[in-house]
Amino acid sequence: MARSTAARVNRVQPPATLAAGQRARELAQQGKDVIDLGPSSPHYTTPRHIIEAGVKALRDGLTNQAPTLGIPEFRRALSEKLSRDNGLRADPDGDLMVVPGSKQGLYYAANAYTGPGDEVLLVEPTWVSFREQVELSEATPVAVPLSAEEEYHLSYEVLERHATDRTRMVILNNPQNPTGRVYTRSELEDVARFALERDLLVVCDETYEYFVYDSNRHLSLASLPGMWERTITSFTFTKAYSMSGWRLGCMVAPSDVLGPLVRVQEHTASFVSPFIQMAGLAALEGPQDHITAWRNECAELRGQVADMLNAVPDVHCPQTEGATFLFPRFPGNLTSADLVERLLSEALVSVTPGSGFGDSGEGHFRIALMRSQADRVLEGAERIARVLEKVA
Ligand SMILES: Cc1ncc(COP(=O)(O)O)c(C=O)c1O
Repeated sequence: MARSTAARVNRVQPPATLAAGQRARELAQQGKDVIDLGPSSPHYTTPRHIIEAGVKALRDGLTNQAPTLGIPEFRRALSEKLSRDNGLRADPDGDLMVVPGSKQGLYYAANAYTGPGDEVLLVEPTWVSFREQVELSEATPVAVPLSAEEEYHLSYEVLERHATDRTRMVILNNPQNPTGRVYTRSELEDVARFALERDLLVVCDETYEYFVYDSNRHLSLASLPGMWERTITSFTFTKAYSMSGWRLGCMVAPSDVLGPLVRVQEHTASFVSPFIQMAGLAALEGPQDHITAWRNECAELRGQVADMLNAVPDVHCPQTEGATFLFPRFPGNLTSADLVERLLSEALVSVTPGSGFGDSGEGHFRIALMRSQADRVLEGAERIARVLEKVA
């Protein structure tokens, strides 16, 4: 029997990161020496003490339900982290909710607050799922394109240029995937002024909060005056604790703003498995030095890979301020999808096309620095440089 799919689902494409990865996996299965610099998930295994805590919790019988908001002990530890690292005073009994991966939590935010006729501003190039999550909520994504020439500078004026009286929400990612920008206080103050003047809700995804380099500093938007009341902040254990397979994140907002997201979780995922939350608790309470080690490794690779690519005529690979990527601009007339295909077939390196991050990402590609071991990342960069010499 022929069945028609909901129009909102037909409007959605698979994430560019997954699509590129599929071909790479096929080649690897054929025995080819493919270097994976595609998805952002780190190659590290979750630190041992976190795994042990999860296994212990399973053995202790934490195999059934948990509260929708999360286990109280874990919520208290999250609230302490938010106070210490983010300057946020979140009541553990109402201002935060544990979610099965921040991607899910971000979808709750779009789903709970936007619908037909609403416009949502997306600062682009932007992470692969924001646009699709807005589409799945039947609202209208509106790109706020930032340009590479202006180093992806974010301002009140650029937001205002794309606003209408239907604008309901702004979605921001800081540090930014894929450009590696870390917004300055003054840029965030511009976002705050814009949101306050127009009485908008802002979703701020702070996935890469611990991956910030040189003299740059990560600042949580919700800690700015007047912004706690109108910001939903998203955090995850995926990067800093290499827990992408556990599906563990946290959404933070004042209880009245968080309430609608709680209602969506109650009727969908229900809660996060309790043994996974106990692993998260061990992550927060245990040693944090691996984060410094991973950040330092990423910072070093970032410089080495950028130098290798910048040695190719007409390639421009800026040093990133944060996150775990490089986002080089390449010369010639190829689309980013074509270039990525050539990099895979000629150099056996998997990266993500810039077009997957919105139209303003075209002409670029994204290299994930934490996806493979350091020596493989450097070998991948060398192979990429050889192909780029030919397309220039
Ligand atoms: C900017 C950004 N937000 C959210 C996510 C999703 O993370 P999670 O594994 O918590 O769903 C990612 C993962 O790649 C990301 O890069």
